[in-house]
Amino acid sequence: MIQVSNLSFSYTNQPFISGMNFSVAPGEIFGFLGPSGAGKSTLQKILIGMLRSYQGSAMVNGIECRSRTKKFYEEIGVDFEFSTMYEKLTARENLLFFSSLYEKKPRPFRELLERVGLEGDADKRVADYSKGMKSRLNFIKALLHDPVLLCLDEPTSGLDPVGSRVMKDMILEEKAKGKTILLTTHNMQDAAELCDRVAFIVGGRICALDSPHSLILSRGAATVTYTWLENGEQSASCPLGRISSDERLKALIAGNRLQSIHSSEPTLDEIFVEITGRELEYKISDNLKPKFIRNVE
Ligand SMILES: Nc1ncnc2c1ncn2[C@@H]1O[C@H](COP(=O)(O)OP(=O)(O)OP(=O)(O)O)[C@@H](O)[C@H]1O
Ligand SMILES: [Mg+2]
Repeated sequence: MIQVSNLSFSYTNQPFISGMNFSVAPGEIFGFLGPSGAGKSTLQKILIGMLRSYQGSAMVNGIECRSRTKKFYEEIGVDFEFSTMYEKLTARENLLFFSSLYEKKPRPFRELLERVGLEGDADKRVADYSKGMKSRLNFIKALLHDPVLLCLDEPTSGLDPVGSRVMKDMILEEKAKGKTILLTTHNMQDAAELCDRVAFIVGGRICALDSPHSLILSRGAATVTYTWLENGEQSASCPLGRISSDERLKALIAGNRLQSIHSSEPTLDEIFVEITGRELEYKISDNLKPKFIRNVE
């Protein structure tokens, strides 16, 4: 569906995106991950034919993006990073307008609005929508003409956990129908759950590309942590691959003395920090985390 070779692009005379090569198969969910300002949205804009002064090749659905014509957009649905709705129009009027830009018959508005919980607000002006409502409307706009490729730039940002779950389920339904999906996100849990493969982009370059599972396995062994009672609760850890030689663990198992045991792998969050060298933006430093409030009888 997508083939990028030797792609370079610059907004100024300094090179920005450089030497990019990757391809995305039909039916794949492909994630763009990376720190703010890394070039993820820029890359999406190249792939949807908005930025055409690039060097190298970017083929999407058999068409070189710089030579796209109007027909190119019949098969591409874009959920931009920021709302692209006409604020003075209602949600329904916006959907009517955007669907009129395509030759294809639109998907039924009611069904889409219902799915994202906006059926009751369809006749409200978008200016009066909350951030999460705008995100949901922006998302269904991308699905209106049932395109084969969806480009979703941070679709779940600003959504509550229920809204985010609905959107993720809808993304998986599109994949099940054979659609290809480009997903940019800062949420590593979403990326690990949804993406077949992810590309980490840092400073306009791809610095890692693989399935989340392979990245996790390649970046460190899973660890087993176990606890037992001995003058209070004690705990210890050992690498998963070496549990058979952990004498203490063997003795605790033989004596049925284990209190708990669990294994944990590095998370995509940790891999993000390791690859990009930066902390995730949404992480709060430990001393700022709210303390749990306990009811004291
Ligand atoms: N139209 C533009 N003209 C000049 N520079 C731009 C333009 N759009 C983006 N840039 C610059 O290109 C760089 C990459 O921006 P881009 O929006 O692609 O980052 P991003 O990875 O999507 O970041 P974020 O995660 O914050 O959305 C930034 O330094 C940005 O300032
Ligand atoms: Mg962006």
